[in-house]
Amino acid sequence: MKQHYKEMPSSLQGTYAEFSRNFGFDWKEFIMGIPTPMFLVTTYKSNGQPNATMQSWATFTSADHGNGYFAVLASVTKGGHLHQTLNEKKETVINFMSSDKYEDCMKTIQNNQFEADEISASGLTVAKASWVDAPMVEECFMNLECKYLWEKEIVPGDDHVIVCLEIVGGHVDEEFLADRFGEKSVSYNIHYPMDPNNVKEKGCDYVAGLKVTNRSYEY
Ligand SMILES: Cc1cc2nc3c(=O)[nH]c(=O)nc-3n(C[C@H](O)[C@H](O)[C@H](O)COP(=O)(O)O)c2cc1C
Repeated sequence: MKQHYKEMPSSLQGTYAEFSRNFGFDWKEFIMGIPTPMFLVTTYKSNGQPNATMQSWATFTSADHGNGYFAVLASVTKGGHLHQTLNEKKETVINFMSSDKYEDCMKTIQNNQFEADEISASGLTVAKASWVDAPMVEECFMNLECKYLWEKEIVPGDDHVIVCLEIVGGHVDEEFLADRFGEKSVSYNIHYPMDPNNVKEKGCDYVAGLKVTNRSYEY
């Protein structure tokens, strides 16, 4: 049986779903729980130090009549280093981590000081990108080198922007090429899923992998 949600259900009032509007989240996100791919975006700060930012409100698509592959970061805060460095340098790398490197990548959030090399401080290795001026993370199984194209607010005056990046090339581990669902595979973020019929005092974000359920051929 389907339940219908247009206004915040009373069971979510006073919970994290309501409180987190302070951080820019709408309560529907927690009920609907749509997974998004998770990765680390790396740039150079104006002082030359590597910056690293966890991102997951995002998608990837071909465009320009099949002449380009693009990353659309759906919600980049205007207040962070990523937004600042993208606007300064216009070049970046998107790094996908296997689950055993998730904790190290998350450490970049604590090691967020402007003076810090956020990659090395988090126990990861800085590698040189081939086609753009940005650092990459050696331990990540896939690194996509990107050029910044444009940004736009979803709603005028918002404090986050959609950022469109063109993927100019990538470095892809053979293990991932051979098995998209194995040890080295894309992880997904499920942001604090909540069941309004059974609200727990404390929840969490989940990191999830993929399971094959169907196959399709030409359509
Ligand atoms: C799994 C995960 C996904 C995230 N996705 C985003 C995102 O899509 N947009 C955003 O602005 N912040 C996102 N964040 C928060 C930033 O990673 C965090 O604020 C970071 O410290 C910003 O770093 P910076 O100032 O170097 O850009 C995410 C955090 C995590 C843990």
